Amino acid sequence: MAHEAVAADSQYNYDIIKRFAVMALVWGILGMFAGTYIAAELAFPFLNFDTPAITFGRLRPVHTTLVIFGFGGSALFATSYYVVQRTCQTPLSSNMLAGFTFWGWQASVLLGVLGYVNGYTQGREYAEFVWPIDLLITVTWVAYFYVYVTTLMRRSQPHIYVANWFYMSFILATAILHIVNNLAVPVSMFSLQSYSAFSGVQDAMTQWWYGHNAVGFFLTAAFLGMMYYFVPKQAGRPVYSYRLSIVHFWALAFLYMWVGAHHLHWTALPDWTSSLAATFSILLLMPSWGGMINGIMTLSGAWDKLRTDPIMLFLITSLAFYGMSTFEGPMMSLKSVNALSHYTDWTIGHVHSGTLGWVAMISFGSFYHMIPRLWDTRLWSKKLVYTHFWLATIGIVLYITAMWISGIGQGLMLRAFDDYGNLAYTFIESVSFMHVPLVTRMLGGIFFVAGILIMAFNVFMTIRTAKREQVEIEAKIAAKMAKVGA
Ligand code: HEM
Ligand code: HEM
Repeated sequence: MAHEAVAADSQYNYDIIKRFAVMALVWGILGMFAGTYIAAELAFPFLNFDTPAITFGRLRPVHTTLVIFGFGGSALFATSYYVVQRTCQTPLSSNMLAGFTFWGWQASVLLGVLGYVNGYTQGREYAEFVWPIDLLITVTWVAYFYVYVTTLMRRSQPHIYVANWFYMSFILATAILHIVNNLAVPVSMFSLQSYSAFSGVQDAMTQWWYGHNAVGFFLTAAFLGMMYYFVPKQAGRPVYSYRLSIVHFWALAFLYMWVGAHHLHWTALPDWTSSLAATFSILLLMPSWGGMINGIMTLSGAWDKLRTDPIMLFLITSLAFYGMSTFEGPMMSLKSVNALSHYTDWTIGHVHSGTLGWVAMISFGSFYHMIPRLWDTRLWSKKLVYTHFWLATIGIVLYITAMWISGIGQGLMLRAFDDYGNLAYTFIESVSFMHVPLVTRMLGGIFFVAGILIMAFNVFMTIRTAKREQVEIEAKIAAKMAKVGA
């Protein structure tokens, strides 16, 4: 990459990146374990043990908060601070504020999940945090925005590498979405509960404008920032088409904002908003696939790397899942398809081909590239990276195929009529049909968790080895100095 840092690594603030990276793994393990546990609860309901704190209803937002904000968010802070410093060849503008973003973010995630298990929630999907935590997130995010923009302004060359564009749009859009969707009036100064500023259909529309843009900017644009830096770096070649990356950026930024209403088909929302959302969703297919092709083609001429480099396997597979979920999404946004898929496990399958296949896999690949560089060493075991890759891939395939079978079957059963116009199946028949796929999904989760545990072990050993090497080097230098002195 032409704009790669040439300055000494010691100039950069790697400490903050290391802390975010470690926390991403900690939250990732906890969140994916919670996901597997709630998957088990759906297959075997006795696992709720009649204990409110661990029922599905309370653990589900714990799962989504830990994986999206804890794992995904910390991975984005870590990689964005890494990318902005290296591509701008300048250290972060404020170490103190960057440190504040670390504590603010970790405290928000921790307080949020402690609240959910105890029943404190705002009841808005992916925005369940009660209002005091929303305020903490707002202040943290403003600090993040400030650090990012002022670091960009200090760059030592005129060009802003495209990965930073994606990270910037994520930071800016998340700020707008978070503030607007959480506008609320607390019940009283001493109550954690609040009333939303919106009501009725406007409330639903605002929530899904937030919800889908959280997908678009948090779970997609930001991870594309990761893709545009780490895929070319790992491949050791420039991005396939710089022009395509710019078209990809502007098209996504423009189109995503319009599609939220595809979550509200067949509701009290005016029909034209549904049609508008479906139209823009179909249009989204083009830039999404343009971006995927741009990432995959970066490897053109070096495909052999897929045979020898497990990190490349993670990165390219993540792009394949990005392509798959951004094909499935537009199809599900068609009103007729959505009439079948909505309220079924098909949606859950789509969600996880995006989040496990794309978000988690690109993060794993990027971390395997970044972590040895942060600690100035080599990965402890390449073999374990392969093991992780296969465990994760098998886990995803089990998860999503189980959800397609469960979801499409469930949808078809719920809309089937007999010759007399009565429902052909009772609700409970559809539930018992889903049992086997639900158990299979749980198994997929176990595979995926086993994979991230292996990664954590590999990372732990890498860091330990790096520290040992450091001590040995220091001892050698001290011995040489003593000789010279003597
Ligand atoms: C071991 C891996 C994982 C397992 C076993 C798992 C399992 C689950 C389960 C059982 C649900 C509830 C589904 C339902 O309501 O029927 C769920 C929901 C969800 N999970 Fe995961 N999950 C995993 C990883 C992730 C990751 C890494 C992310 C994001 C980065 C994620 C994001 C979500 C989201 C957004 C939902 C809500 C979906 C919806 O209601 O439409 N999950 N997950
Ligand atoms: C062109 C891209 C995409 C389009 C047009 C799209 C469209 C859709 C549609 C139509 C639904 C079902 C809404 C419903 O019936 O309630 C949905 C659900 C969802 N999608 Fe996508 N999708 C896209 C890509 C992605 C990606 C890449 C991810 C994850 C990284 C993702 C995450 C989700 C989540 C979390 C939900 C569930 C929301 C909920 O109900 O809780 N989508 N998407």
